[in-house]
Amino acid sequence: MNRREFLKIGGMGAMTLLLSGCGLAAVSGDRKSEAKLPAKGEVSGGKKMKIVVITSSPHPKNESTSIYLADRFTEGAKSAGHEVFTFDAANEETHPCRGCDKCGMDGPCIYQDAIETKLMPKMLEADMLVLTTPLYYYGMSAQLKIVVDRFYSRTGKLNGKKSVLIATAYNSADWTFQALAAHYDTLVRYMNWTDAGQVLGVGCGSRSLVERSEFGEMARKIGTSL
Ligand SMILES: Cc1cc2nc3c(=O)[nH]c(=O)nc-3n(C[C@H](O)[C@H](O)[C@H](O)COP(=O)(O)O)c2cc1C
Repeated sequence: MNRREFLKIGGMGAMTLLLSGCGLAAVSGDRKSEAKLPAKGEVSGGKKMKIVVITSSPHPKNESTSIYLADRFTEGAKSAGHEVFTFDAANEETHPCRGCDKCGMDGPCIYQDAIETKLMPKMLEADMLVLTTPLYYYGMSAQLKIVVDRFYSRTGKLNGKKSVLIATAYNSADWTFQALAAHYDTLVRYMNWTDAGQVLGVGCGSRSLVERSEFGEMARKIGTSL
């Protein structure tokens, strides 16, 4: 079977790995580089970080592939001494941005929903945001996009944070995550974030596939490296 599994780890700047049967090689669309995790403590500067993990799969927690990877990241980050708050965007009460501009891009939002009351206070004080999504039509899930659009109410205050992207997909082609990765890169650039790693789990269309893959370990390693 000519099925390739590919994962991406961007240590401070979008580095990419391709896991093939014979070991590691670098590939991701037109970006090629050596795979490398940042040195331990490099991202946090040796300080305890506040991390917000946003998950967005509608699947039950014990069946979701993307939440499986988010949980491995969280295990790693907690073992390295960081504090993790998790927000389940698929099961909380959320509303898409109305574009009313009452917030003036500096909050509060007209919606007093879970994004505004539970997530936003945690995001504002966080050092790092972790965006987790199943791949939906080659982009992020609608559940996560609702949260991302609500960044609008605090665009300036959410500037300058560190970020991680975790995603899973059924497909294994090397272009599977091209559009999502381009969107994420653009978001990182616009928000003036520092990318601290990406785990793009191709060929992870079911829980058994993701559990057998290398991506769980990669997610955990990003967490422990912080
Ligand atoms: C609405 C929908 C759209 C999807 N679109 C894609 C896609 O574009 N490419 C792909 O490889 N997989 C696609 N998938 C498969 C999911 O990305 C995949 O099953 C993933 O493992 C689900 O993650 P989760 O269990 O965390 O929700 C799609 C699934 C759904 C339900």
